[in-house]
Amino acid sequence: MTAASAAAPHIPVLAEEVVHALAVASGETHVDGTFGAGGYAKAILEKGAARVIAFDRDPEAIQAGETLVASSGERLTLVPERFSRMRQALTARGVDRVDGVTLDIGVSSMQLDRADRGFSFQGDGPLDMRMSRDGPSAADFVNHAGEAEIADVLFHYGEEPKSRRVARFIVAARPIERTGQLADVVRKALGHHPGMKKDPATRTFQALRIHINEELAELEGGLAAAEQVLKEGGRLAVVTFHSLEDRIVKRFLKARSGALPSGSRHLPAASMDGVPAPTFEAVAKPVRAGEAELKANPRARSATLRAARRTTAPAWAGKAEGAFA
Ligand SMILES: C[S@@+](CC[C@H](N)C(=O)[O-])C[C@H]1O[C@@H](n2cnc3c(N)ncnc32)[C@H](O)[C@@H]1O
Repeated sequence: MTAASAAAPHIPVLAEEVVHALAVASGETHVDGTFGAGGYAKAILEKGAARVIAFDRDPEAIQAGETLVASSGERLTLVPERFSRMRQALTARGVDRVDGVTLDIGVSSMQLDRADRGFSFQGDGPLDMRMSRDGPSAADFVNHAGEAEIADVLFHYGEEPKSRRVARFIVAARPIERTGQLADVVRKALGHHPGMKKDPATRTFQALRIHINEELAELEGGLAAAEQVLKEGGRLAVVTFHSLEDRIVKRFLKARSGALPSGSRHLPAASMDGVPAPTFEAVAKPVRAGEAELKANPRARSATLRAARRTTAPAWAGKAEGAFA
């Protein structure tokens, strides 16, 4: 048993709704940008897709997915890469355009539940938080960044109202090497009692995870890449887990479907030939998990699915910096 499979299995969130939004038809080629435990990839294959090219930046998710690759009859390809680079990775594999792209943003249960990955304070572990296992860890950041920079990260990515106070406590407690140690520092800064509904350290952990993995920039890059690789009529389905991410998807689809008022700062300046033509249409209303799913999987509570269909217009990517702001 690998270390990855020793963790609780990841229950796919909104899987039925995602497959419905992707309207998978037999013979199609789909991209799963966030393979995780393969829940979506498996569901897309079961619907008759000829090929699923699935990405994950976590080498352990890729390794654990080899069993599914072996049983897929060469229909599943796993790519250890960030989804923001899907265009280059597809081109390298001789794939130009695809029928569907899905993204299920955030961390998997395998990552969250394993104390040694350092994403959570439920069990004590090294303060790591790197999905791809490379680059600076959360410990590197909290031990070396300036107090103001730490406060900014906590404020912007964790929406922590007392970010300056928490940053001050963090700097005073350095070096911080363990998740349990960081959680205690935050609790000391904000006050904590056992009956509290939400642990005050939650916002700090979310902020650091987003920062260390550049998650919001990745999401923006992934949406722009999807716009480039989807063929006419191709479908995009994106599941997010908090308002910072959902806002990015919502604004992207609004801008790209021409639903923003003219003169908005979210649109590129009108050029000689005017505003680019919409690249997405049929933008669906956001979908949330129903009661039955919430009962079976409380993690689905904060999930939002947004979906749309690609038009024939050329991708804006590169022209429309700021369409996510
Ligand atoms: C919520 S899980 C996906 C679960 C999956 N849909 C399933 O049904 O099992 C998110 C996965 O995406 C991966 N991931 C997150 N950001 C990524 C990125 N920018 N590029 C590639 N993979 C990413 C994580 O490593 C994690 O394994």
